[in-house]
Amino acid sequence: MSKNNVPIPEMPEGYEEAIRLQSGSESTEDMTRLLDERAEGDTNLADWRRQLAAKLVSIAPAPLSKVLFAPGGAEAVSMALKLARLATGRYKTVSFCDSFHGATLDAISIGGERLFRDGMEPLLPGSLHMPPPVVPPSHRQSPAIEAMRDPDYLDYLMRKEGDVGAVIAEPFRYSFALHPPADYWKQIQRICKRHGALLIFDEIPVCLGRTGQWFACQLYDVAPDILILGKGLGGGIFPFAAMLATPALDIGQHHALGHFTHEKSPVASAAALATIRVIEDENLLRQARCKGQKALETLRLLQAREEGIGSVSGIGLQLAIELVDQRGRPDLERTGQVLHTCLANGLSFKVAGGNILSFAPPLNVTEAELLKAADILEQALSETRSIETGGRVPAPHANEPSQKEPLCTS
Ligand SMILES: Cc1ncc(COP(=O)(O)O)c(C=O)c1O
Repeated sequence: MSKNNVPIPEMPEGYEEAIRLQSGSESTEDMTRLLDERAEGDTNLADWRRQLAAKLVSIAPAPLSKVLFAPGGAEAVSMALKLARLATGRYKTVSFCDSFHGATLDAISIGGERLFRDGMEPLLPGSLHMPPPVVPPSHRQSPAIEAMRDPDYLDYLMRKEGDVGAVIAEPFRYSFALHPPADYWKQIQRICKRHGALLIFDEIPVCLGRTGQWFACQLYDVAPDILILGKGLGGGIFPFAAMLATPALDIGQHHALGHFTHEKSPVASAAALATIRVIEDENLLRQARCKGQKALETLRLLQAREEGIGSVSGIGLQLAIELVDQRGRPDLERTGQVLHTCLANGLSFKVAGGNILSFAPPLNVTEAELLKAADILEQALSETRSIETGGRVPAPHANEPSQKEPLCTS
C-alpha cells in the first residue's frame, strides 16, 4: 500500500526490477545484485537488450529483422531519417499535413502541424507534405483538395521532384482512429518502389498491440522498409523506442545513426520484455480487438442519442468521437467544455484537430472501467448540450443491463 493507503498494483517481474533500479529504490538489494552479477561477468544486462531485439524480430512482420534502440520516439524518427539518407543518398521526404512525429527540429520539419513549427524556421530542407488519406467528416476540404488524398498525387509529386528519399507516415492517424482506404498502403508502397524511395511507418502511439495486432501495419498487410515504435514499447510508462529495418538497410556500421546516452538502456529493455510478456500472458491483442469493438458499439449508441456527435471511429483500443455543431462544423467550444468536465470527473483523453476526442485506454483496461468512462463522457455531453438543440429525448443509458454483459474474456 502507498502512504495514502491506495493499493499499489502488482507489477510484472522485470518491470518491478526495472522501476526500482530507475528510481534508485529504498532497497538497493536488486540493484546491488544486478551490479554484482555484471561484475562477475554475468551478461544479464546485455542479455535483456539481446532478448528484446530477438523478441521484437520474432513478432515483427518479415523482413523487418534489424533493430536499433533509442531513448524516445523523436530520436528514433531522427535515426530513421538518417538511415533513409544513407540508403538512398537523398534528403527529401514526403509526410502528411497535420501529422506529428515528435518535438525535435527534424521531427517538426516532417510533422505537418503549424503549431509546432511556428517561429522555429528554418526547418529541414526538402520536407514535403501531402494531404493524409482520410480525415473526420468535419475536417473535409474542397473537392480539389480531397482529390489530393489519392496515392496518384504522391506519384505526381515524386515524378516532379525526382529525388524523394522516403515517405514517412503513421499507418493511420492514431488520434482520428480512421482506416485509410483499402489498399492505400499497398499503392503507396508500389509508388515508393517505383521512385526508389523508402517507406517508413511511425507506429509510436499504437505499437505494441493497441490495434489488436502487434504492429498496425499488419492490419494493411504491408511491411515498410523502416518501422519506428515507442510509447507502448515501455508499457506506456517507461521511456524507450526502437527502429526496425530490413536487412538491406543494415548499412550504418560506420555512421552514427543514434549515439544517445540512454540509447540501449538495459533497464528499459527489461521493462519492454515485461510488457511483451504481459501482452502475451494476458492475451491483450485479442482483448484490444474485443474490448475495442465493445467500446465502439457503446460510443455508437451514445452517438444515436446525443446531439452533436458527428462521427465515431475505432481501431482496436484506439477510439475517437468528433463533436460538431448543427451545421456539421467542428464544435471547438463544446469540445473544450467536455474535456474539462471529463477531467474533473476522472476521465482523461486527448483532443485532436480541435474537435476530436481521442481515447487510448490501457490495453488491460477492465470492462467496468470502460463503462465508467462511457458514463463520465455521457454525463459531460449532456451537461454541455447547446440551448438551441436541448439534446435528444432521454434514451437508454449506456449502463443498462445489456451493456453490463461481460465485455470480453481473455
Ligand atoms: C506519431 C508520433 N510520432 C512520434 C512521437 C514522438 O514520440 P516522443 O514523444 O517519444 O518523442 C509521437 C508522440 O506523441 C507521436 O504521436
